[in-house]
Amino acid sequence: MGDIISVKATTEYNVYSGKNILQSIGGLARESFRTAFKLGVISDGNVAPLYADSVCQTLRTAGFTVYLIVVPSGEEAKSLKIYGDVLNKLVEYGFTRADAIIGLGGGVVGDLTGFVAATFLRGIAYANVPTTLLSIVDSSLGGKTGINLPGGKNLCGAFKQPAFVLSDYALLKTLPPAEVKSGNGEVVKYALLKGGDFYKNLLAGGNADAFLTDCIKYKADIVSEDEFETKGKRIFLNLGHTVAHALEKLSNFTIPHGNAVATGLIYAARISEHYGILSNADANAVEKYILSQGYEKNYGYSFKTLAQNALSDKKTSQDSISLVLLHGIGKPVVYKIKTAEFLALPL
Ligand code: GLY
Repeated sequence: MGDIISVKATTEYNVYSGKNILQSIGGLARESFRTAFKLGVISDGNVAPLYADSVCQTLRTAGFTVYLIVVPSGEEAKSLKIYGDVLNKLVEYGFTRADAIIGLGGGVVGDLTGFVAATFLRGIAYANVPTTLLSIVDSSLGGKTGINLPGGKNLCGAFKQPAFVLSDYALLKTLPPAEVKSGNGEVVKYALLKGGDFYKNLLAGGNADAFLTDCIKYKADIVSEDEFETKGKRIFLNLGHTVAHALEKLSNFTIPHGNAVATGLIYAARISEHYGILSNADANAVEKYILSQGYEKNYGYSFKTLAQNALSDKKTSQDSISLVLLHGIGKPVVYKIKTAEFLALPL
């Protein structure tokens, strides 16, 4: 069934990826959730009508008692309120620590499902079935789970690895084009991080499914090396994200995440060029490719505005900022730059 990519985290698990593999969820759940009688399928108002019936039926045929829990679509599902509602549903349905839940949806559903799994009864097993490009290549694997607080996004969370991830690329056929474009911004990020044939083939317009598997493999390797982001490797996944987060905030989250990342990658390339670690030819090629895909160069914001906003991020220490840059395509490095120097970059 397609590719099987192993993530060697605290608990080792597989990402199953390929086309038309959704029906294998029954067997995978049986294998992975050996003690479970009950399964909760958590999905949202957009995805549930498309895929929940078939997923729940397959799981019932595999012998589970299945409960579908539908949450609102969008960020609202990552609120304390909806998180509490899902916990209460599991209590109402009599879930025990032996049982498990499955997130069927995009990044929001996956983050919520993982956080419920991390905290309900001090932890139950879960799996992710991502249905968006962004969640297939990023949030569905790696175990970062969480919800938002009134004070900001993802301020409450836990590391909790899934028991498995089932990424069926065929589900992407129902994804709105704007979400495909956003997801592709992250695909470009992985190509710059990995370099080699992945980068060359992407620029040459090669096969999209192969890129998804390349992205999953890259992330799986990074998480295997640095699950808790303490060893200086997982931070590479933030390439382009300093400017991207600033753009998202400045636009009140109307710029889709992956589009903001694509713009952030142009800045990452230009800053790398400024420090003499990426050639002008490579920086030009990166910018040309990203603009050719219909992404924006700066959305009308000056670099100084973006930099000021990036520095207001709670995660930044006061006198310096850590940036992921490129010491050549495929060679990410972290530069720690004084804030005054960052604000004065001639971009
Ligand atoms: N999305 C970045 C990470 O998983 O570390």
